[in-house]
Amino acid sequence: MRQDWYRDAVFYELYVRAFADGNGDGIGDLAGLTARLDYLQDLGVDAIWLLPIFSSPLRDDGYDVSDYFDVHPDYGTLEDLRTLIEQAHRRGLRLVVELIPNHTSDRHPWFQASRDPDHPDHATYRDWYVWSETADRYADARIIFLDYEPSNWTYDPRRGAYYWHRFFSHQPDLNYDHPAVQEMMLEVVRFWIDQGVDGIRVDATPYLYEREGTNCENLPETHTYFKRLRAFVESYAPHVMLLSEANQWPEDVRAYFGDGDEFHMNFHFPLMPRLFIALAQGEYEPIRRILERTPEIPPSCQWGTFLRNHDELTLEMVTPEERAFLWDYYAPDPRMRLNLGIRRRLAPLLGNDGRRIRLAHSILLTLIGSPFLYYGDELGMGDLITLPDRAGVRTPMQWDDGPNAGFSAAPAGRLYAPVIDASVYGYRQVNVRRQRADPDSLLNWLRRALRIRRRHPAFGRGSLDLLLPENRAILAYLRRYGEETLLLVHNLSPEAQEVDLPLPAGVAGRPADLWTGEVAEVGRSLRLRLEGYGFRWLGL
Ligand code: NOJ
Ligand code: CA
Repeated sequence: MRQDWYRDAVFYELYVRAFADGNGDGIGDLAGLTARLDYLQDLGVDAIWLLPIFSSPLRDDGYDVSDYFDVHPDYGTLEDLRTLIEQAHRRGLRLVVELIPNHTSDRHPWFQASRDPDHPDHATYRDWYVWSETADRYADARIIFLDYEPSNWTYDPRRGAYYWHRFFSHQPDLNYDHPAVQEMMLEVVRFWIDQGVDGIRVDATPYLYEREGTNCENLPETHTYFKRLRAFVESYAPHVMLLSEANQWPEDVRAYFGDGDEFHMNFHFPLMPRLFIALAQGEYEPIRRILERTPEIPPSCQWGTFLRNHDELTLEMVTPEERAFLWDYYAPDPRMRLNLGIRRRLAPLLGNDGRRIRLAHSILLTLIGSPFLYYGDELGMGDLITLPDRAGVRTPMQWDDGPNAGFSAAPAGRLYAPVIDASVYGYRQVNVRRQRADPDSLLNWLRRALRIRRRHPAFGRGSLDLLLPENRAILAYLRRYGEETLLLVHNLSPEAQEVDLPLPAGVAGRPADLWTGEVAEVGRSLRLRLEGYGFRWLGL
C-alpha cells in the first residue's frame, strides 16, 4: 500500500445525513451511502470524507459528540460502517472520518459527571473540562461563533462555575492539561483505526490548550500533543493519514506539519477566499500574493485545497478590506452572511455560470495540493438561505427528478431537511440522472477532468512556478514532476484574452492539450487565445 496516497488523491466531502437514505426514515445513512458508492467511483474521486457520524444530540450536526465509540443510530451501526469501508475499499475508495478532540457535547457523560458534584463519577471527571471561578480568564481569545456566542465562558449553576468553550456553549472544551484526557483521545483514534478507516480529519486543531496572556491558538503544548498523536498512528497504523483543520495564516499552519512528524495534511484556508477574489476581480494578484506567503512543506506532506465545504465560506484569513469586498460581492443579502463568512454554495456564489464554475474547478484541480470537492457541487446544487446557520448548504443530495429527488422513500414531510425545489436549482433541473445523460453537463465535465488529473502525478506532487504574464487576467503556471512539465492557463476575466507565455528553457516544443490531445507547434514562447473564463491544460 502506498503510504503517501493522499498526495495524489481527490477527496469528496459528504454529509451522511444528506447523501442517501437507505431505510426510508427521511435521514441519510451508512447503508444508503454504501448503495451509492458506484456513483463516487464513477465520478473518479479517491477518498470520501464523512462529516461526523458519532453519537450526538446533533446540535452542531455531530461536532457535538456524546459518545466517541459509537455511530449515531440515525446513520446505522458500527457494523454498517465496516461494511461501508469494505465496499469502498473494493472500489479503490478510501474513507476518512472525523476526530473532534477539542470539545464534546454538554450531554456527554464525561461533562455530566464533571459538572455535578453529586455525580458518582465526579471525582474522576472533575478536571476533564476547563473550569473557572470567574469569566475573565483567557481574555485574549477571540470568539469564533460570533453570531451566537457572547463569550467563551458559560456559567454552570450545578457546578457553580464557568466552563470554557471555543465554539457553541453546548460544546465544552476538554482539558488537555489532564493526562487522562490526552490518553483517552488516543484511545478514540485507535478505535476508529480498528474499524478500518484510512484517514482522520481532525477538527479545530488550534484550540486544544489555553494559556493566559496568549490568544489560546497554536500553542506549543498543542503541537506537542499532536506530535504524540502522530507518533501513536505511526506505530499503530502508518498508512492512516491525519488531516488538520487549522483555519490560520500559512505561516501558522506550517507548524502543524512539523518536520513531517505532525499532520500529513492541512487545509489551506487562506488560499480559498483569494480564489474568489481573483474570480471576482478578474486578475491573478491575490493568488500570487498568498502563494508567495505559503511556505514550503516537508516532502511527505500535502495541502488540502477546496472551494466550498459544509461550513460558511470563512473570511477569517483575509484583511478587513478583502472581507468587505467579498461580503459585498458574494453576499449582498445579509441573510447570506454568517459569523465571519458566507453561507452559500458554489454554484449560486458564481452566478450559476457554467464557465466560471468549470474555471474554479480547473484551478482547484491543477494548483497546489490535493483537492476536496463538496457533495452536490459536482452538479451545481443550490442552497437554502431560509434554513438556519449552515443547514442551507447541507440539503439532500439531488439524485433524480422523482419524489424527494431520489434521496429518500419517506414522505416529504419526514425528511431531515427539505429538498431544494426552486426553479433554477431545484431537483427537477439539477440532478445526477439528468447530468449523467447530458454529455455537456458539469458532472460529465468533472468526471473527465478527474480522469485526466489522475494520469499526471505532477498535479499532486509537482513543483509550482507561476508565469505572471503582463496580462493579469491570465493565471498561468507550470507544474513539474520527474520528466513531466504541465502548463496550466486560466482566463480569470469574462472577455476573451490573448497571451504570450515565455516557455522555460528546455521545454519549448510541442505542447499537447490534455483534454483534446491536439498538438501545437511553438517556438520559445506560446501564444494562446482563451475565451472568457476559458482555460487550457497543456503537457509540454
Ligand atoms: C469546525 C467544523 O467544520 C464546524 O462544522 C464545527 O461547527 C466546528 N469545527 C466546531 O466543531
Ligand atoms: Ca435512514
